[in-house]
Amino acid sequence: MAVDILLGLQWGDEGKGKIVDHLANKYDIIARFQGGPNAGHTLVIDGVKTVLHTVPSGIMHEKLVNIIGNGVVIDPVTLKREIDTLKTKGIDTGKRLLISKKAHLILPTHKVLDAASESAKGQNKIGSTLRGISPTYMDKTGRNGLRVGDILSADFKGIYNKIKEKHLKLLTIYDYEFSLENLEKEWFEAIDFIRSLNLVDSEYYLNNELSKGKNILAEGAQGTMLDIDFGTYPFVTSSNTISSGACNGLGIAPTRIKEVIGITKAYCTRVGSGPFPTELNDETGERIREVGNEFGATTGRPRRTGWIDLPALKYAIIINGVTQIAITKADILNDFETIEVCTDYEIGGKRTREIPFDLCNVEVKPVYHQLAGWKTDLRNFSTYDEVPQTFLNFLTYLEKYLGTDITMISTGPEREKLLFKKAMESVS
Ligand code: GDP
Ligand code: IMO
Ligand code: MG
Repeated sequence: MAVDILLGLQWGDEGKGKIVDHLANKYDIIARFQGGPNAGHTLVIDGVKTVLHTVPSGIMHEKLVNIIGNGVVIDPVTLKREIDTLKTKGIDTGKRLLISKKAHLILPTHKVLDAASESAKGQNKIGSTLRGISPTYMDKTGRNGLRVGDILSADFKGIYNKIKEKHLKLLTIYDYEFSLENLEKEWFEAIDFIRSLNLVDSEYYLNNELSKGKNILAEGAQGTMLDIDFGTYPFVTSSNTISSGACNGLGIAPTRIKEVIGITKAYCTRVGSGPFPTELNDETGERIREVGNEFGATTGRPRRTGWIDLPALKYAIIINGVTQIAITKADILNDFETIEVCTDYEIGGKRTREIPFDLCNVEVKPVYHQLAGWKTDLRNFSTYDEVPQTFLNFLTYLEKYLGTDITMISTGPEREKLLFKKAMESVS
């Protein structure tokens, strides 16, 4: 009986979905705890690609329960579309998917507010996914939000209209044109659909299942450097993406948490604006983007690329209490002669391994340690013991610096492409 957490250690898109899907059978329940349709988690099973936005990444497993927790924000339209798409692939989410009544709803006007706010920022855009995430979390903390459970109320339309009126007043401060007609029609149709799903008091459900001896995997969205408190503020998302977010976002006590599995790419990417100390605006960066197919799973935007950033990873490991690391996309670096690893930041002539408070406003010169590339196709290996010494040198260097074991190596997008250093201890 335990809860393990799996989350991103960088700026999102680390490959969380793929690893959750691979590990899912070791658990009884997979639970998303924060974020919303800003997430895009990709699974590749038998050559078929599926991108999930709100539905947890255990959904392809027939016998598992998947829960959208109270910490998630839900766009009914996106969720309905996602469930419909899964149906065309032969996946009936039916009893497999439960939704917390306490999860907040993204309204059509939240999406308009997101777009209007971004547009007004001009040069200083956050690079939001425009899914209405920030206005929805603002309404949650401002105590104005609409929750999934509210759709069961006889006066749902009345509550909706009150919030909508507030939003329309707010929108008058922006010079932003919009039309709500189609958005609202689609939204209310989707609400009718959501009403037919399994809406539950997920905190009771999860704690009851835990006391019956069930195992839960909490699936994070985004990444630590996008966390509202500890990320590169203000260029962050609006939720706590870190391990503590799983307790808030599911109603599970910290004492229940066992493993915290941190995911990192063998290099680094970021979508949207904000500081990225190891960013490569050169041919190497372009090469990583092309070979790694680094284009957003949600918005299709090209991802910014760079070398792996160990000061940022170390920070993420401390904040999350990471107990083991999974490294993904090392296969993208298969043909590189040398691999650069950022060990320190040089700021104003001084070296540091700490992330400065004003990272957004200072010039950071990354200090690199160079390692030999492995020049081998990692996709050919089926066990950890087979990988070449040059690749092991890279892993050992990271493990020493980070003080944490790298227990999993992902060598391709496909479900089965995962090598284990040792069996996970928390689950049978
Ligand atoms: P997530 O948001 O963390 O779930 O990650 P995304 O799905 O947004 O982005 C990760 C991308 O890399 C997806 O296209 C995955 O199919 C792909 N991917 C995941 N792991 C690997 C890997 O080890 N190697 C390669 N080549 N691709 C991977
Ligand atoms: P997954 O779960 C990468 C980024 C956006 C933007 C900032 C704020 O797939 O890893 P928001 O729409 O949340 O207000 O945008 O956060 N962002 C992500 N980047 N992966 C994600 O999710 C992201 N979700 C949000 O690009 O810079
Ligand atoms: Mg993603």
